[in-house]
Amino acid sequence: MRSTLRKDLIELFSQAGREFISGQKISDALGCSRTAVWKHIEELRKEGYEVEAVRRKGYRLVKKPGKLSESEIRFGLKTEMMGQNLIYHDVISSTQKTAHELANDNAPEGTLVVADKQTAGRGRMSRVWHSQEGNGIWMSLILRPDIPLQKTPQLTLLAAVAVVQGIEESAGIQTDIKWPNDILINGKKTVGILTEMQAEEDRVRSIIIGIGINVNQQPDDFPDELKNIATSLSQAAGEKIDRAGVIQHILLCFEKRYRDYMTHGFTPIKLLWESYALGIGTNMRARTLNGTFYGKALGIDDEGVLLLETKEGMKKIYSADIELG
Ligand code: BTN
Repeated sequence: MRSTLRKDLIELFSQAGREFISGQKISDALGCSRTAVWKHIEELRKEGYEVEAVRRKGYRLVKKPGKLSESEIRFGLKTEMMGQNLIYHDVISSTQKTAHELANDNAPEGTLVVADKQTAGRGRMSRVWHSQEGNGIWMSLILRPDIPLQKTPQLTLLAAVAVVQGIEESAGIQTDIKWPNDILINGKKTVGILTEMQAEEDRVRSIIIGIGINVNQQPDDFPDELKNIATSLSQAAGEKIDRAGVIQHILLCFEKRYRDYMTHGFTPIKLLWESYALGIGTNMRARTLNGTFYGKALGIDDEGVLLLETKEGMKKIYSADIELG
């Protein structure tokens, strides 16, 4: 099925909720014959959608597939831009790598690459990002903001705010941010965000925001070295979490915060980020490539850089691993 038709059909079902929609209404809305409507619905069924058909009433959606899929993510996606150009793979080496390639090929802003499994997921500081199939969200979003290079760290913080809000709206779980953008539940890492940039001289060409979320992992799903430091949304909620719902809410929050940012600048994002952040006003250790610094975190400056008051004076921390306390 052509993906725009499928998207329109899923959107129709989404708007109808538990109501039936007549075959005629669907065929008018999609601009195709009633036989074609029937074929499209058969294809949705093959993808795991349960569609009930009743004579003289029409069709209604009874159940969405549990598996992550392109349709599953599109179903109920309420954004105008973020994720509307959606590329989904069951298995991929890294969504980040594919998003870079797409950005080079002029993919539009808001393009989202999602995979059920990554074979070469990567984290900050060239670390491996464990991305097994079936229980996480591994996705990369392409942005094309017209901002100077030194402002790009602001988008990292914006991404963290959007993820915190999207998780709260979809799964009802409150999370904390550890500078710059690790997202924790009870001190254990649940989300990692990797921000990368393509630039031309002093202009941003694109920013790729890679987001990895542990959603339905149980403790045994993590490799030994992560067992004590990582957790998942489902462990916090005590139940299985719908991955597509989390993606949709994060994208919607992202779109709203990105609009705020483009209209009002960084101040509203900074205030939100500070309200979710752990450790501001307390002591922390920052391991950077230029050495380790210990001091009191005073907050972030207007460019999103961490300000650390050390015995040797104020240090601006651009990139580091943080240890609280
Ligand atoms: C971190 O080290 O905390 C950042 C982890 C970022 C992982 C995500 S998963 C989706 C995207 N693709 C990747 O290869 N990495 C990012």
